[in-house]
Amino acid sequence: MLLPRGSEAISPTGHYTGYVWVRNGLAPQELATPEGRVLFHALEPAMRVSRLLGRPTFEGLLVARHRMLDQLLSGAIERGEVGQVIEIAAGLSARGWRFTRRYDGLTYVEADLPRMAERKERLLDRLTGPAPRVTTVDALAIDGPSSVAALADTLDPDVGTAIVTEGLLNYFDLDTVTGMWQRFAAVLRRFPTGAYFADVVLRTHSDSLPQRLGAGLLAATVRSRVHVHFDAPADAAETLRKAGFPAADLIPPETTDPSARLIRIIDAWT
Ligand SMILES: C[S@@+](CC[C@H](N)C(=O)[O-])C[C@H]1O[C@@H](n2cnc3c(N)ncnc32)[C@H](O)[C@@H]1O
Repeated sequence: MLLPRGSEAISPTGHYTGYVWVRNGLAPQELATPEGRVLFHALEPAMRVSRLLGRPTFEGLLVARHRMLDQLLSGAIERGEVGQVIEIAAGLSARGWRFTRRYDGLTYVEADLPRMAERKERLLDRLTGPAPRVTTVDALAIDGPSSVAALADTLDPDVGTAIVTEGLLNYFDLDTVTGMWQRFAAVLRRFPTGAYFADVVLRTHSDSLPQRLGAGLLAATVRSRVHVHFDAPADAAETLRKAGFPAADLIPPETTDPSARLIRIIDAWT
């Protein structure tokens, strides 16, 4: 498969995860893509073996993280702390679509690189009823029109705001992630409350996630390294605090699926 290097090289995994959300009733059928179906079925034999041996699978890991992120975000909305959500690298996730329908008056902006954002808009057009706003953001942009800061300028400064990233952090090295967290914290400090929810894979649990999951195809498809930054949850929390989130917890997903042991969910506040 000939794919671009760099950030755009990560996008095929968004098709895979998009297909998993549909399979698990977390997204409408309209958001499944042929690319996602092909990738899913190519990886499935390896996942079946892993499942039979009681080991982690991508599907188990993805569903565990997706549900836990839903839980943290809905808690913040229902407590009245968050009325605006920026989901960066949203890919084909249906969270924006589901939450926009579930919570009246919630502003939900989904952002991704240009090609994925265009694709998402076209897929969402197939659905009726309320939908999230879709826009282009480069999570690595320090400033300028494609930065998170520029997107935040379009929101209401008097409403509590959350940033969500899912399935993004482990594609970038530690310096890049730290810089990104500093920019997120600076943006969120402009609002009365600011929350950051994200998933992260820890080193104690995995030196090489694709290999541990027996998923060499993923490593081949994503022609960029998967980075594992932290030995323990406390290390990640400390880095988040230094980046500008004084309250930062790393929470294990609430599930008995063995896949969930590989990840933690960031619950951080400015
Ligand atoms: C593994 S997918 C996850 C998609 C979605 N969050 C989910 O869980 O289904 C990673 C996503 O990150 C996006 N991405 C990669 N680099 C990015 C960047 N620099 N800025 C914004 N999005 C980026 C890709 O286009 C892709 O949609």
